[in-house]
Amino acid sequence: MLVLGIESSCDETACSIFECSEKDDGSEPKLLGENVASQEKVHILYGGVVPELASREHLRNLPILVSSLCNELKINIDDIDAVGVTRGPGLKGCLLMGVCFAEGFALARNIPLIGINHIEAHLSVTLLDNPELEYPFLALIVSGGHTEIVHVTGLGQYKILAQTSDDAAGEAFDKAANLLGFPYPGGAKLAALADTVQSSQFKLPKVMREAEGFSFSGLKTAISLLVADAKEKYGDNLPIAELAYTVQDSIVDALVYKLKKAIKSYNIDKVALAGGVSANKFLRNRIGSLPKIKLYCPDFSHSVDNGAMVGYLAAKRLMRGERSELSGDVKARWSIEELS
Ligand code: KG4
Ligand code: ZN
Repeated sequence: MLVLGIESSCDETACSIFECSEKDDGSEPKLLGENVASQEKVHILYGGVVPELASREHLRNLPILVSSLCNELKINIDDIDAVGVTRGPGLKGCLLMGVCFAEGFALARNIPLIGINHIEAHLSVTLLDNPELEYPFLALIVSGGHTEIVHVTGLGQYKILAQTSDDAAGEAFDKAANLLGFPYPGGAKLAALADTVQSSQFKLPKVMREAEGFSFSGLKTAISLLVADAKEKYGDNLPIAELAYTVQDSIVDALVYKLKKAIKSYNIDKVALAGGVSANKFLRNRIGSLPKIKLYCPDFSHSVDNGAMVGYLAAKRLMRGERSELSGDVKARWSIEELS
């Protein structure tokens, strides 16, 4: 069976094609190819994602991406047997573009469709890239919209142990990057500069020690005060790399602190990292150096939004016989606990 996966929940239009068995015979879906179109150039002018512009980009990009992937793989578009599409969570207009495209594609060819949860898809691609990872494990899912520690016992079996009550880790990176003058999307740029130094003269308070979940609002205020003070002191000679180091260190410290607590209470030695912030090398190193912990990361190209994450999860669920209605529905909010 050839499965097309479609992702359009935010500012990346992406697709993939997987080959898999029609039934769950224990075999793994095979990635044949994937395609992604970043919208960085569109949103950079505005310093962040403009949802309406993002939707229009998806509408324009989707047919081009899918047909060019089919051409590249020498697959006749009408030989595709099923479609998987991100139904949520994400920006409503953006999700609608992917869902309408996918549902139209499925209806025209009378093939099955499956709606996919974007967060579960991020987690799944870590499994695709690490076939040796076995359940149960803990997952730290860190993206531009989500920060969650999840106890994972199987496909679709999730218990959220901690989540953010306000900003996500990726947003904290992006907002700090904005204050330091990095253009959108700033998180990765801030991280790259931070990695050029080994220490910093600046300090931020340790946050999120008592609370159950994550909250990045206090840290955000502390970062903006720190940057304002530093600007006053250093003027044009702002030591940006050191400030970036301090910001990265404190966001990662908050994530690792909560993760260590979850590892202790669940007595689990396997940690899967997923979502855009899983591209952060400092975070990977900090978790990877925790005693007795085996860390599983997605390929760097699969950390940020991509087509493979949707196609892989769609193939897994289709192999189990799951199908969705062609309802046009999207879910801007959709916790992965609802899948259990
Ligand atoms: O998963 P993703 O591509 O989109 C969402 O589902 O939100 O995550 C995007 C987030 C952005 O906030 C981006 O700044 C952050 O991931 N990000 C990083 C790095 N690469 C991407 N944050 C820190 N370090 C990085 N290397
Ligand atoms: Zn994402």
